[in-house]
Amino acid sequence: MKNKSFFIVIDGIDGAGTTTHSSLLAGYLEGEGLSIHLTQEPSNSEIGVLLRKFLKDKKIPPCTDALLFAADRSLHYYNEIKSKLDEGFIIISDRYIESSIVYQSVQSDEISIEWVKEINKFAVEPDLTIILDINPKVSLARKTQENLEKFEDTTFLDKVRELYLKRAEQKGYYVVNSDEIIEIVQEKIQKIVTDKILE
Ligand code: TYD
Repeated sequence: MKNKSFFIVIDGIDGAGTTTHSSLLAGYLEGEGLSIHLTQEPSNSEIGVLLRKFLKDKKIPPCTDALLFAADRSLHYYNEIKSKLDEGFIIISDRYIESSIVYQSVQSDEISIEWVKEINKFAVEPDLTIILDINPKVSLARKTQENLEKFEDTTFLDKVRELYLKRAEQKGYYVVNSDEIIEIVQEKIQKIVTDKILE
């Protein structure tokens, strides 16, 4: 396969397997001889580190979460994603703007999708978004119950899932059912990505 810069995002509810599948996809594409840059949000920046801490804290107002995720993303985009794309890399990001649009707007009635889009307008849209879909009851059963973060709650994630699916329909994102064995899900993701890269 020939390399050209391309920006892929794997997104979905907690426990859907975004991290596992982003990493397997990166390994596969590298094996095909492509230059891959694998990254994730929250990013490794100081804002990202703070966000990971806040994920354990229910007292953080949803608007603070939204603003910090947007700040982390703008830094992530300008300092990492954009420069790697300019160098010709294929970027795979485990979560991106869609996570904010969905999670933060579901978090509070005061947060509109339009506002989340506005504060994220500095970060450029990806070329391909794949949503991993799974029932939260199944996805949360994959997690250790004592260490759950504030969004890892079935009722909340039911709403998050519903909005991901609605957004996917509106925006034409690919949706892959991740309630199957890892190899099958990964194969489906690889097929979507390969077809797109070769387009
Ligand atoms: P993630 O790293 O995928 O969770 P884990 O490593 O614990 O499986 O994501 C962290 C959480 O942050 C997840 O609940 C989704 C949430 N999140 C948002 O609410 N908004 C965002 O913009 C991003 C990037 C993540």
